[in-house]
Amino acid sequence: MISLKGKIAIITGGSRGLGKAIATLLAQEGVNIGITGRNEANLRSAVEELKGLGVKAAYAAFDISSEAAVKSGIDALVAELGGVDILVNNAGIGKMGTLEAMSSEDWQEVIQTNLFGVYYAAMAVYPYLKEKGEGDIVNVSSTAGLKGGAHMSAYAASKAAVISLSQSMMAEWRKQNIRVITLTPSTIASDMSIQAGLTDGNPEKVLQPEDFAEWVRDILKMNRRALIANGSIFSTNP
Ligand SMILES: NC(=O)c1ccc[n+]([C@@H]2O[C@H](COP(=O)([O-])OP(=O)(O)OC[C@H]3O[C@@H](n4cnc5c(N)ncnc54)[C@H](OP(=O)(O)O)[C@@H]3O)[C@@H](O)[C@H]2O)c1
Repeated sequence: MISLKGKIAIITGGSRGLGKAIATLLAQEGVNIGITGRNEANLRSAVEELKGLGVKAAYAAFDISSEAAVKSGIDALVAELGGVDILVNNAGIGKMGTLEAMSSEDWQEVIQTNLFGVYYAAMAVYPYLKEKGEGDIVNVSSTAGLKGGAHMSAYAASKAAVISLSQSMMAEWRKQNIRVITLTPSTIASDMSIQAGLTDGNPEKVLQPEDFAEWVRDILKMNRRALIANGSIFSTNP
């Protein structure tokens, strides 16, 4: 396994949930961290915690569904941190409801955030990785993207599209030594899954954000000749 010490990672949605757990574990490996989200108070307190782990940490507050805001926010983070090696495309929303109950505006918001957000952030980071001649992009999809289900039409469609987009990125960008990794986690205890009523988050049984973060860290630490292209993680017996 390789050392990640001194690398620079940008984690979208890094203020809480899965993103914050990934930011924390990567910081423990000596990775300098940039996090993004909309709620500035959450971002500020997460950055203070990360700095306490002895790494450089910074945040940019923007809505991932706005192309211009993503580009300027990512550029500002790269300038502040002195580069970027890793993007974790994690920000997302889980608006659920029956097809009948969800408005087309809800649908558009989910697609714009979960699909276009991944596209905008990847396109903002790509020029830096291309120039460097290597890098890593982790795209967080979901098992919901592998198979649709009741009450999750927009979410599942957005996550299916993320899988496809991510696989296309992988096919194009591996030639520049950029590893694009498509992950499809099942339910993990977080604000999103608990508020959606998908789990009670019981730590005795249900995946916790740190389980996912350990997996992401270990994938990134694999020798650069090795690419985990796709993977799922489930609770053993929820
Ligand atoms: N938890 C699960 O069971 C599960 C399972 C499979 C996949 N996932 C995926 O994992 C990722 C993280 O989920 P989570 O459970 O950690 O969710 P979470 O606890 O709700 O956190 C979501 C994060 O994304 C940010 N975010 C949401 N909408 C945003 C927007 N429009 N612009 C910028 N930032 C935005 C949030 O920050 P602000 O609120 O400050 O904007 C927050 O940091 C998501 O892509 C989700 O779909 C989760």
